[in-house]
Amino acid sequence: MLNYNEAGEGPVVVLLHGFPLNRTIWSQQMAHLKKQYRVITPDLPGHGGSAAFPEGGPATMTRMAREVLALLDTLKVDQAAIAGHSMGGYVALALQQAAPERVVGLGLISTQARADTPEAREGRLNLAAKVHMHGAGVVAEGMGPKLFGPSVTSEDPRYQSTVTMIQETPGDGVRCALLGMAERADMREGLTGITVPTLVLVGTEDKVIPLERSQCMAANIPRAVLVKVPGVGHMPMLEDPAAMNEALEQWLELVY
Ligand code: MLT
Repeated sequence: MLNYNEAGEGPVVVLLHGFPLNRTIWSQQMAHLKKQYRVITPDLPGHGGSAAFPEGGPATMTRMAREVLALLDTLKVDQAAIAGHSMGGYVALALQQAAPERVVGLGLISTQARADTPEAREGRLNLAAKVHMHGAGVVAEGMGPKLFGPSVTSEDPRYQSTVTMIQETPGDGVRCALLGMAERADMREGLTGITVPTLVLVGTEDKVIPLERSQCMAANIPRAVLVKVPGVGHMPMLEDPAAMNEALEQWLELVY
């Protein structure tokens, strides 16, 4: 079973972290939302305290989504508002596709519905091979400088703690997630069929997944609200926690 944190009581909201991070990235959102909601933050397979899939193949978005659903089964949660950041957004979309009846609201944070281009896929496979040889440190080196907007420098504690979090993610988990992301499906066609209130949130300075990807999702999902957070990069929950919390709160008011 997935490792997770849980706090609060009431309607359920699940927050899924991105690659290769863990549940603690949401600590400020959990502290805020737990006053009104039951907040569940799982570690995705191979991240934080959750074991990687035993046979070491791709951790596909669908397999990860099934693990989240199994956790909800164990916790006796029939339905939840599900929000995911970046790779967590890919998992949230896969979960919504696999079990739409369990999802009463969807949050797509700094993410996209597109699959990888052939070049991006190639890059992921190369990186997975490097991680196999050298561990997660190579990912931290590459990703660190791209994660934050201009106001968070490499001396900032948020930058340093995020890079440490990446370095501490087990190499196997990182490698399997890279393989899984490389083979993920293009989810754009299904967007028009998502009927629940959906938050699409993006930082205007995101260098990992460009702003246009969020605009495109929001334009296609019937009940989407697009929130652009000015000056923020790929990590809105750390860069502007107040804006992130407010957007989640307003979304949950629409959901529940
Ligand atoms: C993430 O932040 O989860 C990943 O960078 C997403 C990706 O690589 O596509």
